[in-house]
Amino acid sequence: MLDDDRVRADIPGREPGSVFLDSAGSSLPPRVVVDTVVDHLRREAVVGGYRAANERLDDLAAVKTAIGALINAAPASIALSDSATRSWADFFYSIPLAEGDRILVSEADYASNAIAALQRARATGATVEKIPSDGTGQLDLDALAAMVDERVKLVSVLHAPTNGGLVNPAAEATRIAHSVGALVLLDACQSTGQLPIDVAELDVDALSATGRKWLRGPRGTGFLYVRPELAATLEPGRLDLHSAEWTGPEDYRLAPDASRFEFWECDVAARLGLGAAVRYLLDLGPANVYEAISARAEHLRKALPEISGVTVRDIGLRHSGIVSFTVDGVDSVDVRDRLAERNVTVTVSHAGSTLLDMTGRGLRSVVRASPHCFVSFEELDRFVAAVAALAS
Ligand SMILES: Cc1ncc(COP(=O)(O)O)c(C=O)c1O
Repeated sequence: MLDDDRVRADIPGREPGSVFLDSAGSSLPPRVVVDTVVDHLRREAVVGGYRAANERLDDLAAVKTAIGALINAAPASIALSDSATRSWADFFYSIPLAEGDRILVSEADYASNAIAALQRARATGATVEKIPSDGTGQLDLDALAAMVDERVKLVSVLHAPTNGGLVNPAAEATRIAHSVGALVLLDACQSTGQLPIDVAELDVDALSATGRKWLRGPRGTGFLYVRPELAATLEPGRLDLHSAEWTGPEDYRLAPDASRFEFWECDVAARLGLGAAVRYLLDLGPANVYEAISARAEHLRKALPEISGVTVRDIGLRHSGIVSFTVDGVDSVDVRDRLAERNVTVTVSHAGSTLLDMTGRGLRSVVRASPHCFVSFEELDRFVAAVAALAS
């Protein structure tokens, strides 16, 4: 069980009377994250960025150790980056593709992933195909099994989409992809920090995640997990003097592990903040946090449909902490803005972010409420009352 009072007291940025429901966008960091970042920036201003970083080498190494503990991976299999998209693309663009190869994407896939897949398909002659969803809305495992053959080089599995509560059966999809030798890249941007992630159990080849959402880290942080055998063999599309060593006039040697997917320059303060965020989560107990998020989302999924004119849009068998809904006759952007007037923060997910899924369901946008463990049930009820007021 979480100590709710401690969790709430740990947030320096909470405004009295506000309701924060945008952890799927960019969450509120705990105090230790803010302090870690600010303290490092102040230190950089005194001794310069290089010396300040040198003073924190152990702490910087510990960032990967903490992430590894969270997702059950060796630190050497993790590359730190500045976003989930960067991580996803770094892995994706390192996969050799040729004419006739097939890339499979989830129906709930994120726009940035799909755009990258389409770009590479144009450049290589590979094809991009959608894995359909089943009657429940989750990735259709039977359809996937029927689609795969040895020409499939990569399956992009979207764990928890940006636009609603769906959780896709990632481990099962991975087993099917591996049966034909295809690689699996799991977009865990919306699941890391709110759902259990064990890369050994999931058996995915790579996983991308961001810092600022459910992990409650700083903006401009993210990471890529790469299966160790692949981290030692794949060649990233871009290299620098950190991802590789210049060994002679004609030669370079790639870093032996996932750090070949990193560049040397980075926001050191943000990275230290990411480490602090992950350690904070580990300290609270990830299972406690996941349970608290799920309880809050379920509370909303029960309460919102009781309001006349409100439709919860979440699909699938298993649900995440993202609750999506629409209000009859009120545009999602208006819902967001009118809630903001009451100091309630939600966001809107537009069709362009998850084009295949949203157009398939005839939706142009949905309102997205994503409560983290620090949101009280009283705040949730205030939010529900505010939605009821604007729906009537
Ligand atoms: C499912 C999903 N994947 C990827 C991303 C991109 O993350 P980032 O903005 O950190 O690159 C998002 C962002 O909202 C997302 O929801």
